[in-house]
Amino acid sequence: MIELSYSLSRGKTEILIEKGSLSILSKLEERSFVVYAAGLRKMVSDLVDSSRHVTYPLDDGEDGKDADSVIDICRKLSEEGFKRGSTLVSVGGGTTSDVAGMAASIYMRGMKLISVPTTLLAMVDASLGGKTGVNLRGIKNMIGTFYSPSRVIIDPEIIRSLPDNLMSDGLGEIAKYAIAMDDEMFEALLNNGPELFMSGNRNLEHWISRCVKIKMDIVSKDEFELTGKRSILNFGHTIGHAIEASSGFSLSHGVSVAYGMMFELDMGLKMGLTSEDTVTRARELLKRLNLPSGIDSSRFKEHTASIIDLVYSDKKNSGRKIRIPIPDRIGHCNLVEIDTEDVKNYLESALK
Ligand SMILES: NC(=O)c1ccc[n+]([C@@H]2O[C@H](COP(=O)([O-])OP(=O)(O)OC[C@H]3O[C@@H](n4cnc5c(N)ncnc54)[C@H](O)[C@@H]3O)[C@@H](O)[C@H]2O)c1
Repeated sequence: MIELSYSLSRGKTEILIEKGSLSILSKLEERSFVVYAAGLRKMVSDLVDSSRHVTYPLDDGEDGKDADSVIDICRKLSEEGFKRGSTLVSVGGGTTSDVAGMAASIYMRGMKLISVPTTLLAMVDASLGGKTGVNLRGIKNMIGTFYSPSRVIIDPEIIRSLPDNLMSDGLGEIAKYAIAMDDEMFEALLNNGPELFMSGNRNLEHWISRCVKIKMDIVSKDEFELTGKRSILNFGHTIGHAIEASSGFSLSHGVSVAYGMMFELDMGLKMGLTSEDTVTRARELLKRLNLPSGIDSSRFKEHTASIIDLVYSDKKNSGRKIRIPIPDRIGHCNLVEIDTEDVKNYLESALK
């Protein structure tokens, strides 16, 4: 069992990482509103006493991750008489924590939130740090809030039922931490491969907690993304998000971030910001994790214009410069301001 605690603007976020901790769902004391990923219906109905608590299944994928879902949850909360001091529990992956977190943040200007992440991506990233986001008019994460849960309960064993593509999504974010922020985890991943994060590994709690600490240490220094410190977490995401969106979301998040990391490292190499050895070693790790490890320009050629447009329109960018985290060596990353024209020129030549 690993317990972590972080002080954030709304108070403490307590994080428990323990095999079997999912049983918390059968021990909820006060009457709670449980939003869960529809695919987890059986698991939730086995654990949550629906005669005492209200359960709300959320449609899977980007369909469920819509502003309408947030309003529908708020409507149901109101119909069921929930108050500001009541608890909303989110059970699922990043889609569920984004939607449920946003509903909890706006219902009566904020209710108590407990997050129970059930995908690897949600355990190491999406359920942490308080960013919520839902789609509006089909535009991804168009509206959102910052609202940290008071408790995050991580039962690592739940990932045993995850299909390979969802494991890859989590591994994409984990590779990001390793390449840009943690050289020891980089070596461990290179030696053990994806098995390091598979259910059954007796050190799984340790490795998940290592990712949680990386993210939460950064978030607690810049909760609202105001000083730039939190932007380091976006390594691979500036170009990765653009690739994901330009594929119409047919490429998954983890795969897109892996491409994004390789493009951003290649750009760093061409601009003299990162070493050749760093690029080679990062490629080796991504290959070991069965993630894309090359820049594969032919694949994106026909999307060049939309990728460039999407990089420009990223809500985190403004003015004539784009801030991009670029590792200078494995385990270390600098936030670099690059002229938008230079990024454009790089992408035009790399995607040729
Ligand atoms: N707010 C943030 O900080 C943040 C960070 C990263 C990603 N995200 C968001 O997270 C979303 C992706 O989340 P995700 O990758 O966790 O997937 P997801 O939440 O979309 O879930 C994908 C599928 O996994 C199923 N599932 C969940 N747990 C399972 C389990 N234990 N076993 C088997 N199936 C299970 C769900 O029912 C669903 O069908 C994206 O919308 C992304 O934008 C948010």
